[in-house]
Amino acid sequence: MHTIKDIQKLISEEILKEISLLNESAPKNLYQPIAYTLAMGGKRLRPVMVLLACNLFTDQIEKAIPAAVAIEAFHNFTLLHDDIMDEADVRRNCATVHKKYNRNIAILSGDAMSIMAYRYLQKSETADLGSMFSLFSQTALEVCEGQQLDMDFETVMDVSIPEYLNMIRLKTAVLLACSLKMGALAANAPERIADLLYAFGINLGIAFQLQDDLLDVFADQKKFGKKIGGDIVSNKKTFLLLKALELSAPDTKKELLEWIDKKEFDAPEKIKAFRRIYTNLNIKEITINSIEEFYQSAINIWNEIDLGLDTKSELLQLAHTIMDRDH
Ligand code: IPE
Ligand code: IPE
Ligand code: MG
Ligand code: MG
Ligand code: MG
Repeated sequence: MHTIKDIQKLISEEILKEISLLNESAPKNLYQPIAYTLAMGGKRLRPVMVLLACNLFTDQIEKAIPAAVAIEAFHNFTLLHDDIMDEADVRRNCATVHKKYNRNIAILSGDAMSIMAYRYLQKSETADLGSMFSLFSQTALEVCEGQQLDMDFETVMDVSIPEYLNMIRLKTAVLLACSLKMGALAANAPERIADLLYAFGINLGIAFQLQDDLLDVFADQKKFGKKIGGDIVSNKKTFLLLKALELSAPDTKKELLEWIDKKEFDAPEKIKAFRRIYTNLNIKEITINSIEEFYQSAINIWNEIDLGLDTKSELLQLAHTIMDRDH
């Protein structure tokens, strides 16, 4: 059994190797931004999930390393493009690629990263490479669907909570679920357990994105590494905003709608107004309750995974760490 710490170390070493290769590659304007992005780190949750899931079935987790690196590369690609779409200037406490370099560079480096993800995956020496590729392509397309819905919702006012949950399932949860299932596929795991891991990942992923929405409003910016209030500025239909629209009295709802309608505004003032309204309506507590519900659903699925408690406890530990985050 490998510990989460061991696995994190293994991933960093693997990514460091990739960074040095990228640093020697030309054209510099294509590969440097990729090296820059990977070197910024991030929590690297998804590759850890891949290796941890593989480790549920075998100690030879090396065979899942290509899939782990592939998913982290894909995740970082989505961030490069997400930051262009969300007009975000800061990520992981560093300038985003489109700010540090430029928009076209961020688009093309992002494209290259997504292609590199497939090249990493190809290196997997496992029997079921076909299933791994089809899971990966399906997931990648679903992330794009989620991202499109996220942008579409910026200009739609009557987004329902089920529509929102479907959007975050697609943009975020499927990649966490895919990470776990990919580790299981790399280990040739029984289908039933691979599917339970996927379902566990979906619920954890939804809780994770709800938490991200919450942190976007209430986190400490230095720890979070992203600008606070970004979702508010761009009228994202987050769980927090949808709940506030649902629960507010007519005058407060009118105030929210007026802010949303404004083309020109002072960003800090808008963020301040939203935070005041959220606080008055107990939106933080309501969101935490919803996060806990999805987390509990994940735990219920974890209970169904027919593996020894010793074997699967590390997975629960990881879920717990993920939900405890402040960044
Ligand atoms: C950010 O993911 C994008 C979301 C799905 C919320 P992470 O919070 O895992 O980002 P890093 O990789 O740790 O920076
Ligand atoms: C994350 O959504 C989804 C993807 C990057 C695919 P967000 O837009 O909330 O992510 P952050 O907050 O910028 O990391
Ligand atoms: Mg974003
Ligand atoms: Mg986004
Ligand atoms: Mg966010």
